[in-house]
Amino acid sequence: MIGAQWGDEGKGKIVDWLSRRADAVVRFQGGHNAGHTLVVDGETYKLSLLPSGIVRGTLSIIGNGVVLDPWALRGEIARVAGQGVAISPDNLAIAENCPLILPLHRELDGLREAAAGAGKIGTTGRGIGPAYEDKVGRRAIRLADLAHLDALEAQLDRLCAHHNALRAGFGAGPVDRAALLAELAAIAPFVLPYAQPVWRRLNGLKRDGRRILFEGAQGVLLDIDHGTYPFVTSSNTVSGTVASGSGLGPGASGFVLGIVKAYTTRVGSGPFPTELTCATGQKLGERGREFGTVTGRKRRCGWFDAVLVRQACAVAGVTGVALTKLDVLDGFATVKICTGYRLGGQTLDHFPTYAGDQAAVTPIYEEMPGWPGTTAGARSWAELPAPAVKYISRITELIETPVALVSTSPEREDTILLRDPFAD
Ligand code: GDP
Ligand code: IMO
Ligand code: MG
Repeated sequence: MIGAQWGDEGKGKIVDWLSRRADAVVRFQGGHNAGHTLVVDGETYKLSLLPSGIVRGTLSIIGNGVVLDPWALRGEIARVAGQGVAISPDNLAIAENCPLILPLHRELDGLREAAAGAGKIGTTGRGIGPAYEDKVGRRAIRLADLAHLDALEAQLDRLCAHHNALRAGFGAGPVDRAALLAELAAIAPFVLPYAQPVWRRLNGLKRDGRRILFEGAQGVLLDIDHGTYPFVTSSNTVSGTVASGSGLGPGASGFVLGIVKAYTTRVGSGPFPTELTCATGQKLGERGREFGTVTGRKRRCGWFDAVLVRQACAVAGVTGVALTKLDVLDGFATVKICTGYRLGGQTLDHFPTYAGDQAAVTPIYEEMPGWPGTTAGARSWAELPAPAVKYISRITELIETPVALVSTSPEREDTILLRDPFAD
C-alpha cells in the first residue's frame, strides 16, 4: 500500500481497515514525517512512526528503510498506549539496522530551512533529510549500535567532524558529544527490547504463508527519484522500496494498492498544477479538513489530476487504487479532472521532469456534473449517486488502473470493497 499523490491520501485509514486480515503490517521507508489518522468508533488515533496495524493489535514491524527517532517513538508509544492500545515487544519489532534520527538532524533540518529563503522545501522539520544523508554518507548511528555505546568513538568522530563543519557554516555551535552520548545511553534501554533482525522475522512469516501488509508513507510525487524534485522527501516512496526497506527481496509484494484522494492536496512548497487558490480550494480544504496531522499546516487543495496519478501508478506498478474522500466532493455543482497539460504551445500527457517546466504547466480540464445527495458513509456501490459512479469510472479510465476500494468517511467501516487486494 502506497500513497499515489503528495501524501495524506488516507493511507492510515485504509491500512487499519485492511490490517484486520493481515498477519503483520510493515513500514519500510520514511519516518515520523508521516502522519496517519485512524478513526475507530469515534475515537481518533494519530500515528507517525508506528505502523497503522498497531491499533488493532496486528504484529507491527518497522523495517530498516525507516529512519528512527527513538525519542519520538517513546513519545508516540506513550500517547497511543494512553488511548488503550497495548504496545510491547510482543506486537512491535524494529529492524536493528535502522539508522537513527538524532537531535542534530532535527537541528540541521531547521537551520537549512531557515536559511533557504524562497528555496525552502517546507519540510516537516523532523530531521528526515539529514538522517538519510548520514545513512548514505556511512556516518549513521544505527539501532544495533545502542547496545555497544562504549565502542562508538570512531563513528562519533566521523559524525561530529561532518556536522561541526556544517553547523559552523550556519553560525551554530559544535555538537555536544558528551550530551549526545548521554542521551543515547538514556534512550537505549527503552528502544533496544524492540530491536530484531527483522529480515529474518519477515522471511519466516513469508515461509509460513502469512499475509504481510506493507504500509508506505508519503506518496509517489514525494519520491526522491520520481517526485517533484527538489520538493520531495528523502526516501523512495514507490512500492519497489518494500524489498530494500524490509529485507524480503523483490518478490515481497503482490498486489500494489495505490491510495488516491478524489481531489488533490499538497503540504509544503513545490509545483501543483491543479491548485485552487480561490473559494473552491478553500471549500475543499474545509470540507476535507485538510490540516496536517504532524505539523497542523494547512494543506493546499485542488482538483483531481489524472495525469499525475496515471504517472504515479505507472512508476510504482500500482495494481489497483483505493479512492478516498469521495464524500468531500458532495455538494459541488460541477467537478473537474485534469486530463493533460499545456506547456508553451505544446500539449503534454505526462508531467515533465525539469522543475521549471513542472512549475509552468497549466492544466487542461474536463468538467463533469456533481451529484445531488451524499456519498458520506456509503458502504456499497449501490448507495452511490449515478454522477459519482460516472466520476469514478472516468478516473479509472484516465489513470489506466482499476479502482479496488472507495472510502466515504474517516470511519474505519465506511469503505466499499470492489476488488480484494488480498485475493490470491
Ligand atoms: P495519510 O497520511 O495518507 O494516512 O492521511 P492523513 O491521515 O494524513 O489524512 C487523511 C485525513 O482524511 C484524515 O484526517 C482521515 O481521517 C481523513 N479521511 C480518510 N479517508 C476519508 C474519507 O473517505 N472521507 C473523509 N471525509 N475523510 C477521510
Ligand atoms: P504522510 O505519510 C504529506 C512533505 C513535506 C515537505 C516534503 C519534505 O502523512 O502522507 P520531509 O520532512 O519529509 O523532509 O519533508 O515532504 N511530506 C509530507 N507531505 N504527507 C506526508 O506523510 C509527508 N511527509 C513529508 O511537507 O513538502
Ligand atoms: Mg498524513
